[in-house]
Amino acid sequence: MTGTLPSDALVFFGATGDLAYKQIFPALQAMVARGTLTMPVIGVAKSGWTVDQLRARARASLTGHGGVDEAAFAALSAQLSYVDGDYNDPATFTALKAALGTAQRPLHYLAIPPSLFGTVTQHLAQSGCADGARIVVEKPFGRDLASARALNETIHQVFAEDRVFRIDHYLGKEAVQNLLYLRFANGVLEPLLNRDHVQSIQITMAESFGVAGRGTFYEEAGAIRDVVQNHMLQVVGLLLMEAPAQGGQEAIRDGVARLFKSIRTLAPADVVRGQMSDYHQERGVAPDSTVETFAALRFHVDSWRWADVPVNVRVGKELPVTCTAVTIQFRGPPQDVFGAAPALNLLRLQLTPGVQVTLGLNTKKPGAGMTGEAAQLVLHRQDWDGLAPYERLLGDALAGDATLFAREDEVEEAWRIVDPILGPVVPVSPYPPGTWGPPESDTLIGPDGPWLAVQPDLGGTGATPPIPPRPAPHGSDANPLPAVPATLAGRVGE
Ligand code: BG6
Repeated sequence: MTGTLPSDALVFFGATGDLAYKQIFPALQAMVARGTLTMPVIGVAKSGWTVDQLRARARASLTGHGGVDEAAFAALSAQLSYVDGDYNDPATFTALKAALGTAQRPLHYLAIPPSLFGTVTQHLAQSGCADGARIVVEKPFGRDLASARALNETIHQVFAEDRVFRIDHYLGKEAVQNLLYLRFANGVLEPLLNRDHVQSIQITMAESFGVAGRGTFYEEAGAIRDVVQNHMLQVVGLLLMEAPAQGGQEAIRDGVARLFKSIRTLAPADVVRGQMSDYHQERGVAPDSTVETFAALRFHVDSWRWADVPVNVRVGKELPVTCTAVTIQFRGPPQDVFGAAPALNLLRLQLTPGVQVTLGLNTKKPGAGMTGEAAQLVLHRQDWDGLAPYERLLGDALAGDATLFAREDEVEEAWRIVDPILGPVVPVSPYPPGTWGPPESDTLIGPDGPWLAVQPDLGGTGATPPIPPRPAPHGSDANPLPAVPATLAGRVGE
């Protein structure tokens, strides 16, 4: 039985691949430096390499991703071994079993394409390498509801759910965990977070870079599979879930799964798809590809707490800035006592870069008359993640703590929500690089908009972020506020 005993060896498949290069080696070095990784580390791949070549690869990875810490690197090199072989060949797994030596509870990290999960898990079982083991799998977990279910079945033939750790690195981000902390460690916010006080919610995940050489991957994914089904829905889940019912690692996952169940399945009318106009120039992209690099979506949460509060999400590549932020727009006061008061009642949570929590309020402009001006209270600002997401998540998986990993039911519910809008269900509209996506996204948000300005404010600069323009009125508001001219519609940097 694995129980809650920590793993005693770390095996990573795909050791010579991209993910290992960009994320896993930096996380391993950081863990060794911190003293949290003292066990054997075994890389597996089919590259015809030796362990020395893998060490050289690790050094190159670290040089490009945060730097080599010579003492930690030496220790990691000594812990590292390498098994070379084909994933279809039982001999590879016999060699892995030998390399595991006396380890009783290995953690197998599958940094390989999902099409290989079945083969690898079966061989792990047949060779005895699955005994007492846990398994970590990467996103994307499936490509729709049916394939995710099939993948879960395949994995469960060998690993019970409590031994499966599905990575969504967004859950390892300091800022994403802070969403939960902020909500449930304070008494003042929680009473406001419901349909009585919240007019609308917006989440923007803007990236100023393109598909960055991942054209082949992106052709298979598109923005909705790449970041909405997982990262964005997890943010929605943590932001809107009920308070965890009890302690223990399942409480938060139960809360998110329950919230997901109340999100209505999306229909084509709830989505706008955009494609950056230079997408076809990317290597690996079909000349007639209709894959989206931008998506705007409107979610409906059919729960007692959130019914009728629109949750608008937009994500995109080659947008004007790189920044992910959540804005909770509160309802205005029931009557406009001062006349034409600015309407800045919002809570803004910047998730990347860094962490920033800002409360936007209206204050009186000094001087004669009762004229208002918008003020921003920066409640919290932090530009450094205590732990990089992969370091945190690998450490948790080794310890057997699944809190920050997506559970089977969460993943399947998330696919259920987006399933009908995957692929070319609505036409894709082009947008020029450096803009906020196609104009159809403004139409989608309609009276719940405009989309609010998103601009990163990096901690330490001393600069306050620009004040988002006032939103247009929400249909059900008792005292509607005047609409914002389209020119102010949150299009910073356009
Ligand atoms: C990944 C996506 O999961 O998340 C990428 O595949 C995206 O397309 C990335 O750029 C964003 O993560 P982060 O941590 O850089 O905000």
